[in-house]
Amino acid sequence: DVAMGIEREHSMHDDMAKILITAGQIQERVRALGAQITADYRPLGDLLLVGVLKGCAMFMVDLARAIDMPLAMDFIATSSYGKTTESSGVVRMLKDLDTDIAGRHVVIVEDIIDSGLTLAYLRGHLLRRNPASLRICALLNKPSRRRADIPIDYLGFDIPNEFVVGYGLDFDEKYRNLPYIGVLHERIYHSTA
Ligand code: XMP
Ligand code: MG
Repeated sequence: DVAMGIEREHSMHDDMAKILITAGQIQERVRALGAQITADYRPLGDLLLVGVLKGCAMFMVDLARAIDMPLAMDFIATSSYGKTTESSGVVRMLKDLDTDIAGRHVVIVEDIIDSGLTLAYLRGHLLRRNPASLRICALLNKPSRRRADIPIDYLGFDIPNEFVVGYGLDFDEKYRNLPYIGVLHERIYHSTA
């Protein structure tokens, strides 16, 4: 099919309406967050990064490499009930921690905080296991959409209320591999069934 052939030959970058945060800006900010976390946790002698799959993937590995102390990494996966883009606040645990976090210094690593309901749930879930401390590190924050009061201890960027993709964030499981944060053309949203 000719149309499909043309579709597959174009660059994924052509699907973007605009770039909100460049790869360079992300790398610079991640380095700064890594330095800040290093300064805070090196004196404590312990750090466990808990990444929230899958959106955290790129941020987690870059952040870990920007932190200069021996650290441990673990991952959890959650899913909101329902198919809407609006978070319901009801969170299902798809993959829990492998690590016993009692007495550990834990930092949750999230791609984006939107309503805050996912993190509010996760925070309560982890606090019940008595970590020595629990902080939150998020790459992106949409403050205009907040419904739960969540303290963000380490933040990359505030962004406007637009659906973003790239650097771990997806649309229909795609575009996570973009090195920047961008907004898709409307034709992309409307082309999927
Ligand atoms: P809440 O509303 O509970 O949800 O803070 C946060 C989760 O919603 C997803 N999310 C997005 N995913 N682009 C995405 O690819 C976005 O602009 C966006 N806004 C929210 C994301 O999974 C996040 O963990
Ligand atoms: Mg997601």
